[in-house]
Amino acid sequence: MNHEQDVARQFDATAARYETSPIHAQGPDLPLFRAAAASLRPQHALDVGCGPGHVALALAPFCETVQAVDASLEMIKIASARARDGACTNIVCQQAVVASLPFADASMDLVTCRFSAHHWRNLSSGLQEIARVLRPGGSFVLTDSVAPDDLLADTHLQTIELLRDTSHVRNLTVSAWMARLAAHDLRPAHTDHFRVLIAFDDWVARAKTPTTRVAVLKDLLRHAPIEVRDRLGIKEDGSFYLDVLTAQCRKAPL
Ligand SMILES: C[S@@+](CC[C@H](N)C(=O)[O-])C[C@H]1O[C@@H](n2cnc3c(N)ncnc32)[C@H](O)[C@@H]1O
Repeated sequence: MNHEQDVARQFDATAARYETSPIHAQGPDLPLFRAAAASLRPQHALDVGCGPGHVALALAPFCETVQAVDASLEMIKIASARARDGACTNIVCQQAVVASLPFADASMDLVTCRFSAHHWRNLSSGLQEIARVLRPGGSFVLTDSVAPDDLLADTHLQTIELLRDTSHVRNLTVSAWMARLAAHDLRPAHTDHFRVLIAFDDWVARAKTPTTRVAVLKDLLRHAPIEVRDRLGIKEDGSFYLDVLTAQCRKAPL
């Protein structure tokens, strides 16, 4: 199995849980996507790594068309059903990976991506594809969980993320994100961040983490050094805080 197959396997198996997960269904960043679409009124929008369609549904009232793509077919089935149930006839869902987006150059006015990029095998290829399909002057709105600058806390975070879900690749630091966006001419006009409490039991249940790995995770979190406990705000039950970056970017106009 290669990485993209592992992503599809992981999210096919857990798709329904992401439909109801409070962080995904009601996260504090969801209004940001709605507000961006409401002010930009894009003709054509694209949500990459759409999952069960939370962002696509938020964008739909303000766009002529919303394309929603995801590596997982089960996610696409749920997103399509929700668009149909919500009578959002302007949402078109299809299975596709970010490294190879099935859209013409400069065909999108707005591209969005939420909590997906840390699963991508090759972040540069993904950002290159997003920049390719975005028209000059178009907007890219991103949210993703980020790594602490502190290397010790970062190592612990990447380790627990991978143990929980093998489709995890890496959380970037905020400064690494800024450099990656700039390298693809996606200029951040506004950035912000928030912290989200990750409730341990929900977190592992959502990913269907095998019980043997749940035990290792609990052990790692319980015995994390004090600096890591403080930085990640680790609690007695293994719950912890994750930092989330929000970035509203603009592709340079011609
Ligand atoms: C944590 S879920 C977030 C889903 C959704 N954006 C949301 O906010 O609820 C991550 C999603 O990214 C998708 N994904 C991961 N890697 C991908 C890739 N390379 N191309 C397309 N989708 C990908 C997964 O299949 C999964 O549905």
